Amino acid sequence: MSTPDRLLSTAADEQRIVVLDFGSQYTQLIARRVRESHVYSEILPYDVDASRVLSDGLKGIILSGGPGNISSEESLLPDERILDAPVPILGICYGMQILGQHFGGKVSRASRREYGSARLSIIEHDHLFKGMREDVQDETTVWMSHGDRIESLGPELISIAKTANSPNAAIRHTRRPIFGVQFHPEVSHTTEGRKILENFVIGICNCEPSWTPGSFIEREIARCRELVGGGKVVCATSGGVDSTVVAVLLSRAIGDNLIAIFVDNGLLRKGEASQVVSMLRKELGINVTVVSASERFLSSLRGVSDPQEKRKIIGNLFIEVFEETAGSLKDCEYLAQGTLYPDVIESVPVRGPSALIKGHHNVWGLPDRMKLKLIEPLRELFKDEVRIIGKRLGIPDRVLMRQPFPGPGLAVRIIGPIAQPQLKVLREADAIVREEIEGAGLSNELWQWFAVLLPVKSVGVMGDERTYENAVAIRVVKSLDAMTADWARLPYDVLGTISSRIINEVDGVNRVVYDISTKPPSTIEWE
Ligand code: XMP
Repeated sequence: MSTPDRLLSTAADEQRIVVLDFGSQYTQLIARRVRESHVYSEILPYDVDASRVLSDGLKGIILSGGPGNISSEESLLPDERILDAPVPILGICYGMQILGQHFGGKVSRASRREYGSARLSIIEHDHLFKGMREDVQDETTVWMSHGDRIESLGPELISIAKTANSPNAAIRHTRRPIFGVQFHPEVSHTTEGRKILENFVIGICNCEPSWTPGSFIEREIARCRELVGGGKVVCATSGGVDSTVVAVLLSRAIGDNLIAIFVDNGLLRKGEASQVVSMLRKELGINVTVVSASERFLSSLRGVSDPQEKRKIIGNLFIEVFEETAGSLKDCEYLAQGTLYPDVIESVPVRGPSALIKGHHNVWGLPDRMKLKLIEPLRELFKDEVRIIGKRLGIPDRVLMRQPFPGPGLAVRIIGPIAQPQLKVLREADAIVREEIEGAGLSNELWQWFAVLLPVKSVGVMGDERTYENAVAIRVVKSLDAMTADWARLPYDVLGTISSRIINEVDGVNRVVYDISTKPPSTIEWE
């Protein structure tokens, strides 16, 4: 999605901190922590051209950690001009080793890998460690995860903190505002990590803490109004958090010139279409057009078992239906989409192919052949920021806290071919899972909770009769961002009620199993 004539909202003119990504699993967390200090941050790949980093508004640079070894031949290094930029730089873990090496220090493999909590003794209380609480100002807990360490500092670097294993656990340059920390201030195990990052961003980089939900909403409303003028904008809404926030934001900006389209593709959960449409219309006052396309989707999916094939068919059909509907609207030039920041971050190859295991998401969806110009008001935001914006816009909590539901819907939760009878069974079973988990007040701690219909028949006995029916799997996971997930340790009585209700109430199911796989190596969805 890089068509130049498309309109992207960007904060390029604002003060920003650039986080250079060397492949750390924590890179997004660094960017989020910076934003929690109310400063806009942007993630760029480590090998980006310096001109993209050193543009207007740049106030500081953070070099992330990464799995590589600076001492190896294939070490990842940034454009040197970035290290010589006239702004403050903070290197974290691998990022600190880059600075150590660049400024003439010696980095080598540590005699043993340091992983986990460590006590950090602070040598210099200014700059990064300024204003820490009295009880932790000399010694605090930090999270370490590294194999290399800086053995000797170059002539212009000094140590400002140490641990039992690392005499140079934090360093600074003697003349320039350049800092390095061997530990990870972005993870919550580093108890003063927020303060340390805030000291860098606000104290050292001199950023104004002006990136707030209120300022974001005002700015986006003004930007959308200006962009669209008196024209119309069409927006696909699913009732999910992102598309609902986009729709409300745009309806605040342009009123009835926003046309929200809800496509009922026949792959939705029980009661979903009517609940979403009523919520959009009655609670949020959004002008929504419903397109009933179940037959079209289900007939195209007939006999298809392959998950990626299902996704492709659904994605293409969705676009067709959407294009037809948008094409019938007069004066409609723009398409609004709920793309989020994690969808647009250019991924670093060292992360490997994991991001492409399943072809998901908006960015993959609506094709370049669409003539509509794109508006993506959330493309700078992380999910938790979208929820905060949604709350400010008056969207009810039950919508904001709704569990994610994949675009291809129940099609990827029926293993094998999809047809009405299977959809009916899955809908009923899934409704029971939702009722019981939400009824037990557990949903706040969970990421997703749903049922999967398996193409497996097993023998059972009901009354005096032998049965031979399908099995349903229950998938309930905890996660922070869907990149990793753990199965939820649900109370046995909740699991018991779910199982007996499904077997008793749903015709065609005589066995319920609970999925206890983590991601990785499994994924959250079964297809
Ligand atoms: P996996 O199964 O890859 O899922 O662990 C991670 C998250 O993504 C959702 N998901 C999808 N969302 N289209 C979507 O819009 C898809 O094709 C798709 N596949 C998975 C999944 O529900 C989970 O939250």
